[in-house]
This record gives sequence, structure tokens and C-alpha cells, in this order.
Amino acid sequence: MASKQRHRQRDTDDDLLVDDDMTDASTNGRNADADEEIEQNFTPISKLEGNGVTAVDVKRLQEGGHHTVESVAYVTKKSLEKIKGISEQKAEKIIAAAMKLVPMGFSTATEYHMKRADIVVITTGSKELDTMLKGGVETGSITEMFGEFRTGKSQLCHMLSVTCQLPFDLGGAEGKCLYICTEGTFRPERFVDIARRFSLDENQVLDNIAYARAYNSDHQTQLLVEAAHMMSEARYALLVVDSATALYRTDFSGRGELAARQMHLARFMRMLQRLADQFGVAVVITNQVVANVDASAVFAADTKKPIGGHIIAHASTTRLYLKKAKGENRVCRVYDSPSLPESEAMFSINTDGIGDAKE
Ligand SMILES: Nc1ncnc2c1ncn2[C@@H]1O[C@H](COP(=O)(O)OP(=O)(O)O)[C@@H](O)[C@H]1O
Ligand SMILES: [Mg+2]
Repeated sequence: MASKQRHRQRDTDDDLLVDDDMTDASTNGRNADADEEIEQNFTPISKLEGNGVTAVDVKRLQEGGHHTVESVAYVTKKSLEKIKGISEQKAEKIIAAAMKLVPMGFSTATEYHMKRADIVVITTGSKELDTMLKGGVETGSITEMFGEFRTGKSQLCHMLSVTCQLPFDLGGAEGKCLYICTEGTFRPERFVDIARRFSLDENQVLDNIAYARAYNSDHQTQLLVEAAHMMSEARYALLVVDSATALYRTDFSGRGELAARQMHLARFMRMLQRLADQFGVAVVITNQVVANVDASAVFAADTKKPIGGHIIAHASTTRLYLKKAKGENRVCRVYDSPSLPESEAMFSINTDGIGDAKE
């Protein structure tokens, strides 16, 4: 999870949008200060070196897709052994070293409560929606937004891609955005409109959003490997996948492929969760709905249900159900959350992004 406390430690230049580090990182790919700046969020894999792990093995881990100590600490021994050159003994040593650097044991509820109070949330642009969400979309976990077409899922994704870049005191998370689109609805011109609302430099806003179109479910998964690498080199606050499930519907068809589809989807969701854990980014995914033919539906009024079944249901921390209302207005209902009561909020879709509901 991203915490303000940890970010405050750097605090030399709070204004991300005029921060040279950020622009350097996006234009040159790598910069010398990057390590120092992002160290607050996670522990770079290089820290294992000198803690019982050789430089060669660190390089092997990197090639295996591990860019942070957290990444190594959170996986099983078995999965490290799959990396070329990492034996069972070595894997044990590496995990022991990683667990020394990353706290993974018990802590008191008081400590955890204090940590949670400090979690950064990203504003949606609508006061009512933010209030319902206790400030906005949470970093360090997965938020799913599902609903029919034109209910504002993609518009909310575009909005958050800009607001995540704002300073903390304006409801942002002072980080860049990584945007994976599977439906061809990514519209950079929307960022320009939204950036103007916050008087942000539109070129910087656009530079801080890395975009990739995913063409199939394998590719969509592969992009997360690249995402982990990018997140280890610059400070990201948000990862959007719009939509997380659409390609699965086209790539796998019928009952016969259902088990394979769910297994693939589960792996994708695990990778998303790992990115949220490791880098403290907010992960926002969208999902469509299908007719609910399940007779045991808890709510008789629910004629629609999100796709992806238990896999998506279990992997998403916060599930939001978007519905159309009058005109530009939309309703967002908390469908499932570990800390929010079931409730509804109204917002509107405007040229300058998401806003308060209209009369
Ligand atoms: N530039 C804009 N200004 C105002 N409203 C817009 C703009 N672009 C799209 N919209 C509204 O957003 C809605 C589509 O929302 P979208 O997020 O794309 O839905 P979905 O849930 O299918 O992703 C449309 O009803 C449209 O009226
Ligand atoms: Mg959409």
C-alpha cells in the first residue's frame, strides 16, 4: 500500500507535474535519481546483494521478472526455482534474505490501523462518490468497476489517470499512470480536457500516462511483466486495465474452455494483486455484465451480474456497480468491499471529466 508517510520522507519537490525527475524518467527511460526517489515505496532488488545473494543471482532474478525484494518475498520457493540458475538451496537463501528486508510477520491491529489511516486515495472528481469511497480509489488494492455500456467505466478510468498525478493535498497520489486498453476506447484527448480543469500542463499529463493496447489475453498478461519493470524505474500511482475480461470472452469460448479461461484469468488477477502489493499502486479494472440467470441471486432485483465469476469476485478488493441515471448522471453502488457499507452515490460525466451529479 502507498502511504503518505513514506512519500513525505522525500518531500523535496512536492509538485509532481513540475518535477524534473518525472519528466526525465519518462523521456529518457532511466535516470540516476530514479532509484532514490522511488525507494520509499518498495525495496529495489539490488538491495539483496550483500545480504547473502550474489550479484549474478540478482541479475537472474531480474531476468525472471523480479524487480523488487517484495516481489521475491511474496512468491513461493517453487516459483523461484523455475528461474534459470536458481537451485532449491539458492531459492531458500534468497527468500530468507528477502524476508529479512520486507516485514511479513504479525503486527498489532493498532499498527495496522495506523498504516491504513495513511493510505493514499485518488479522487474521482465527484464529491459524493469520493465521500462514499472514503476519499476515493484506494492505492495498494484492486478496484473493479462493472456495468453496462456507457455507464462511465472508461470515463472514470480516464479521469483517475489524470487525478492520480495530482499532489496529495488535492486528492492525488503524485505518481504516473499505466493504462492497458483492450477495447480501443482509449482517448488521449480526454486527458487534455481533464488536465485543463486542474490547470495542469497537458503535455506533462500525457507524458505521465503510459499506454498499451492489449490484443489477446496472453498479450494482456505479458504487458504486466513489462509494467512491473516500468514501476521499478519510476513512481507509478495507478494501473488501469479497461477491460480486464473482454479479451477472455473472445479468446475462450463455450463451456469446454471455461476451466482454461478461469485459470488464465486467475493468473492475470494474481499478477495485478502482486503489482498492487509491491508498488502500492491503485489497480483499477473494468468489467462487463451479463444477464443473471442464476436463480439463487441474492438480490432479486439484480438482473445483471459481472462476468469472470468467482475469480474476479475474489480478486477485486472493492467492487463498484455503475448504472445509468438521467442525462449525464450515473449511479455508483458499492457491490462488495471489506470496509464500505453497501451504498450508492451519484456522479456525472462531463467534458472536463467526472463531476458532481446534475439536478
Ligand atoms: N467528451 C465528453 N464529454 C462529455 N461526456 C462524454 C464525453 N465523452 C464521452 N462522454 C460520455 O461518456 C459516456 C460513455 O462512458 P464510457 O465510460 O465510455 O462508458 P463505458 O462504461 O462503456 O466504458 C457516454 O454516455 C458519453 O455521453
Ligand atoms: Mg468502456
